[in-house]
Amino acid sequence: MCNTNETTPKQRVLSCIQPSGLLTLGNYLGALKNWTQMQSQFDCTFAVADLHAITVRQEPAKLRSQIYSTFALLLALGIDPEQNTVFIQSQVPYHTALSWVLSCYTQFGEMSRMTQFKDKSAKHPDNINVGLFSYPVLMAADILLYQPAFVPVGADQKQHLEIARDIALRFNHLYGDVFTVPEAYIPKTGARIMSLQDPAKKMSKSDDNANSWIAILDSKDDIIRKFKRAVTDSDSCVRMSPDKPGVSNLITIYGAVTGKTADEVEREFEGKGYGDFKLAVGEAVADTLAPIKQRHDEIIKDKKELERLYKAGAEKASRTAAKTYFKVMKKVGFVL
Ligand code: TRP
Repeated sequence: MCNTNETTPKQRVLSCIQPSGLLTLGNYLGALKNWTQMQSQFDCTFAVADLHAITVRQEPAKLRSQIYSTFALLLALGIDPEQNTVFIQSQVPYHTALSWVLSCYTQFGEMSRMTQFKDKSAKHPDNINVGLFSYPVLMAADILLYQPAFVPVGADQKQHLEIARDIALRFNHLYGDVFTVPEAYIPKTGARIMSLQDPAKKMSKSDDNANSWIAILDSKDDIIRKFKRAVTDSDSCVRMSPDKPGVSNLITIYGAVTGKTADEVEREFEGKGYGDFKLAVGEAVADTLAPIKQRHDEIIKDKKELERLYKAGAEKASRTAAKTYFKVMKKVGFVL
């Protein structure tokens, strides 16, 4: 037998997702689908980044239900909590504790350059809180506590991952090898899904126009209705092209859920109108998401089992996190 997996430990991957609002088809095809595929190859740690969510004001009851729902969704996607570590960030206090220490090794100047901070403070001028500013330090703690080799992130989080790497390098330079310096993991097949109403913009749950995005937990009827209303153009040719951004986005989506290439999709709809095409995309997406929604709804109903799973996840995560945390404390000079 030459199964190398049994002798070589798998490399660790870590990523987190915020529970703010409903997760979209864009989150699924761009990130979450890859998480599920990575579990065979890597030792995966995935968390619901609920602490990050309160940098924007949240309603307590709604936040709580979104945390449950996001955790249930990770399981519904098929991420195995036995093989991997799946947990809720706020249940592992080492994140906030390490974040304080790391903030003392992070410069005000470098934080001030973060584009997401600039964007978010422009969007919420009445609540430019210190947490919003130091958010990337908490994210660095999320990552560095688990010593991952890779962190799958979208383009909007690359700058934050860079900071985490810089903090790790700086800390290691002062105290020896404490942190693994993680690499960004750019999946081969991560699709970038655009708004159904304005294909120049990324699909986003914070878009005011609810027709522009699909929630992973949307009903079949809603999904089909939104695809029927998707923006296309005035000719009626299903073809991938920079001057046909709406149609190209639909081809990308259809290809991602059916596993077909753009060429195959074009051939399939040759001579057919946009009506047929949009309906086919809607149905293919609905068929992909339906079993996920069904599992999510089952998991969320069983509160006892859900609680058992997130508590076990937090315990497992804590064991790894504690090792790094106490090493850091010792290096800095605290009394253990
Ligand atoms: N900031 C990330 C986002 O909004 C979520 C996040 C928090 C994260 N901690 C992380 C992502 C650690 C990767 C690693 O998408």
